[in-house]
Amino acid sequence: MSRLVCVSNRISLPRKSAAPGGLAVGILSALKRTGGLWFGWGGETVDTDPGEPDIHIRDGVTYATVDLRKRDFELYYNGYANEVLWPLFHYFLKGMRYSSEQRDAYENVNRSFATKLVPLLEPRDTIWIHDYHLIPMARLLRDAGVKRPIGFFLHIPFPNIEMLRVLPSYAELLRDLTCYDVVGFQTQNDLQAFHSGVEHLFGAEAIKPDGRIRVGERTMRADVFPIGVDVSAVQEEATVALSGDVVRRMTDSLMGRSLMMGVDRLDYSKGLVERFSAYQHFLETYPDNLGNITYIQIAPLSRTDVRAYVDIRQQLEQAAGRTNGRFADTDWTPIRYLNRNFPHATLMGFLRAAKVGIVTPLRDGMNLVAKEFVAAQDATDPGVLILSNLAGAARELGSALLVNPYDSQAVGHAIQAALSMTLTERRERHAAMMQVLKRNDIAAWTRRFVEALEQAPGADPRVRAVGNGH
Ligand code: F6P
Repeated sequence: MSRLVCVSNRISLPRKSAAPGGLAVGILSALKRTGGLWFGWGGETVDTDPGEPDIHIRDGVTYATVDLRKRDFELYYNGYANEVLWPLFHYFLKGMRYSSEQRDAYENVNRSFATKLVPLLEPRDTIWIHDYHLIPMARLLRDAGVKRPIGFFLHIPFPNIEMLRVLPSYAELLRDLTCYDVVGFQTQNDLQAFHSGVEHLFGAEAIKPDGRIRVGERTMRADVFPIGVDVSAVQEEATVALSGDVVRRMTDSLMGRSLMMGVDRLDYSKGLVERFSAYQHFLETYPDNLGNITYIQIAPLSRTDVRAYVDIRQQLEQAAGRTNGRFADTDWTPIRYLNRNFPHATLMGFLRAAKVGIVTPLRDGMNLVAKEFVAAQDATDPGVLILSNLAGAARELGSALLVNPYDSQAVGHAIQAALSMTLTERRERHAAMMQVLKRNDIAAWTRRFVEALEQAPGADPRVRAVGNGH
C-alpha cells in the first residue's frame, strides 16, 4: 500500500487549536484514517532563512512544518495567494491587487516547499497537493525528479476563462494544473470552468470524450470530488459538547429563546454584511420575533494584514452595532458577534443547539459548516439549514432552504420560514440531507480521490509496481 502525503499551505498541528477553515478539517480526517505525512507551513514567520522542516508524529500522522520568511508571508501568502488568487477565484475583482513581485514570491515559496519535501518522500508515496497556494508544485516536483502520482484538489471555486484571463499569468497557471495526474474540483461548475480554460489554451481537442485531458505528451484527468464530513465524528462531538460546560453556559444564557447560528472565517466572501442586513429585515418584517431569537455569529479573524479584510471587519462591527443599537432591549441582544475561534467539538455543540443554521456566502467552494450543521443535528428534532445557492454545498444539499445571499429580504423571509417550519418537514429535509452526507462522507472523498490518482492515465504502472525512485 502506498503512503499518503498531503501538502497544504497551512497545516493544523495537534498541539495548537484547530486552524479555521474546511481544508484543515478535511485533510486531518483523511490522514487520521490512512496515516501518512502532512507537509506545510506551521503558521510561524521568521526573519532569517526558515531552515529544515520540523517533524512531529502523532496518532500515525507525521507532521512536517516549515516556517515562512516575513517577506514571503507578505508577498506570497498575503499577496499572491490572498490578494490575487483568492479574490479572482471568488469573482471579487474589486479586492484584487496584482504585482509580478508577488508572483515571483509565489513561485519561490512553492520551489522551496518542493525542495524541502523531496527528501521526505518514500518510493511508494502518493502525493496530494491542496489548494490555490500551491498550484505550481507538480511542475516543481517533476523538475526535481519525482515520478510518483501527484494529485491536486482545489478547495475553493475555479473561475471561468473570462474571469481567469484577468490574471496576467493565467496561461502558466493552467499549464501548471495540467502537470498533475489528477485535478479535483468541488463542483461540476468548477470543472466546466477549468475545461473552458483548457479549451481556450490548448483547443477543444485536448478534452477527450471520456473526460481525460491530453496536453502534448501528457494525459491527465480532471473531475469532481465534493468534499464531505466525518458524519459520525461530528455527531459524537456535537452530542458530547452539548452537555459540556461551554455549550451549556451558552444555551442557559438564551433563556429559552430560539438560536440562529453562523460560523465563518471573517472573510468578505462569506456574505456576512448581507447576512446582518437580512437579519435586520427579518426583525423589521416579523416583529413578533423581537426578544425571542438570538443570532450568534462566530467569525474568527482571518488574513488580518490584507486590506480587504480590514475593511470588512469595520463594516461588520458597524452593522452589528446598528442592529443591536436599534433593536436591543435591556434583557436582550439580537446579535452576538464574536471574533474568536473555538475548538471544533465546541462548535459542533453550538450547531446542535441551534434551531437555524445560516450559511450564506456570496461564493464558496463547498462550505463544510453547512454539512457539519446538518450532521450535528438531533434527527428527532432537527434545526433548519438556510444555505446560499452560491455555495458548492448547495449542489448536494437541495433540501436546505436555498437562498440568494444578495437578496436580504428573501433571506429574512427564509429565517421566518425556518423558525416556523413543522417538525415533519424539518425531519424530512434533514433525513434527505443526511443521506447525501453519509453517501459522500470524508472517507468516500479520500478514497475516490486517491483511487483516481493511483489509476491516473499519466501514472506509469511500472513506477507504481516497483516503487522505482520517488
Ligand atoms: O479553504 C480555503 C482556505 O484558504 C484553506 O486553504 C485554508 O486552510 C483556510 O481557507 C483558512 O485560510 P488561511 O490559511 O488563510 O487562514
